[in-house]
Amino acid sequence: MSRRRHLARTRKYAEEHGHRVIMIMKDPEWEADYVDEVVVADTSSIDDTLSAAKAVAAAESAPIDAVVTFAEAAVPSAARVAAEFGLPGVSERTAHLARDKYLMRAAFAEGGVAQPRFALAGSLEEAVKAADEVGFPMVLKPIIGTGSMYVRSVATMAELEEHFDVIREGAWAGFTYDPLHDSAMRSYGGGVLAEQFVPGPEICVESLVVAGTTHVLAIHDKPLPTGPTFEEVYACTPTRLPAKTVERIAAAVRDVHEAMGILTGPTHVEFRLADGVEPVVLEAAARMGGGPIYRSVLLSTGVDLVEAALDLALGRTPEIAPREVARPIGFWNIFPERAGTLSEIVGLDRAAADPRVDEVEIYRHLGDHLEVPPRTFQGHGHLIFKVNDVDELDPVFDELVSTLRLRTDPEGR
Ligand SMILES: Nc1ncnc2c1ncn2[C@@H]1O[C@H](COP(=O)(O)OP(=O)(O)OP(=O)(O)O)[C@@H](O)[C@H]1O
Ligand SMILES: [Mg+2]
Repeated sequence: MSRRRHLARTRKYAEEHGHRVIMIMKDPEWEADYVDEVVVADTSSIDDTLSAAKAVAAAESAPIDAVVTFAEAAVPSAARVAAEFGLPGVSERTAHLARDKYLMRAAFAEGGVAQPRFALAGSLEEAVKAADEVGFPMVLKPIIGTGSMYVRSVATMAELEEHFDVIREGAWAGFTYDPLHDSAMRSYGGGVLAEQFVPGPEICVESLVVAGTTHVLAIHDKPLPTGPTFEEVYACTPTRLPAKTVERIAAAVRDVHEAMGILTGPTHVEFRLADGVEPVVLEAAARMGGGPIYRSVLLSTGVDLVEAALDLALGRTPEIAPREVARPIGFWNIFPERAGTLSEIVGLDRAAADPRVDEVEIYRHLGDHLEVPPRTFQGHGHLIFKVNDVDELDPVFDELVSTLRLRTDPEGR
């Protein structure tokens, strides 16, 4: 739902440049409204996705000009299709290590990129052994995960014992749609990653890589990932970090791209800052940041990442002209306080009428059952707001959170 704007912009771009947009998707719903044609295929298989793309190419009178995805799990399939048709994109190897957090860590180790200590844990015994190496608190996470699902920190041996099996099972059962699921599950024996917990502020960085050159466009501060689960609640840009730290972050992003072999396209790289200054990479994506990030970068910098991504996919050089002084933008992924039936959306009209609110959308309806972390990690709505000064970001966020609320009734009441 939070990708409507990406598809709307893609449709507009295609109209402007005389292209047709054909989407390959497993279960298209609202997305079909934004494209010229939907081809239904089993996108949990790279081979099936490629076959579908070949069938499209055979049926179309004009050649396929570009392949693009905004979805994390589809990055390897998009790379496969691009390679097959000789189109711009990241290589298949890069796409694979962008989706496999163990391979990514190995590539960072080889490239000398600062990162947490890490180990594989296929069983509780191995996780206990990993704790020796990695230490507590330790972060357990799926190898092919996304959306912070089943990512959890454990502070003690007792917590490790309590949570390991739930994480290990969810780490695979939660991602059966992923084309890497079966092969990764086999090669890692159903294990998970165990990482040293990196304390310090969290940030994420949006960049465009053009012919091997990295252009860092926006850094979001993410003040609220407190743990033990890490659902993303609040992010804002531009960063309040000092220029010196920003320089170190930009250098680290370049190292990340080099280690992963990313030579073209948008990227989304996540760091924590050890001691508040040293960027330690959490992970990187070979696609643009998800959800409201597209809009917040656009409002803040003036750079349209979807347009740039489409330019790059077509082999064009995007015009990258960020505004000199970024506008302060924040966004909130909305969760209720507790799970239950959505009984009231408090303050929605007021939020929608608030001049500081750029966009507010609740994806659920009254009567829907709403989960909260750790049962779900996807927010049930989002709100994007703009202010005049970076100092207003946090207070305005606090104010909005206190006035807009998803009220839930526990089940069976
Ligand atoms: N080693 C670590 N140290 C500290 N925090 C961590 C670590 N690994 C993960 N986290 C926290 O967990 C969050 C999710 O982890 P990660 O990004 O690896 O998973 P993900 O499923 O890809 O998430 P998303 O798709 O939301 O980016 C991070 O944004 C961070 O807040
Ligand atoms: Mg992440």
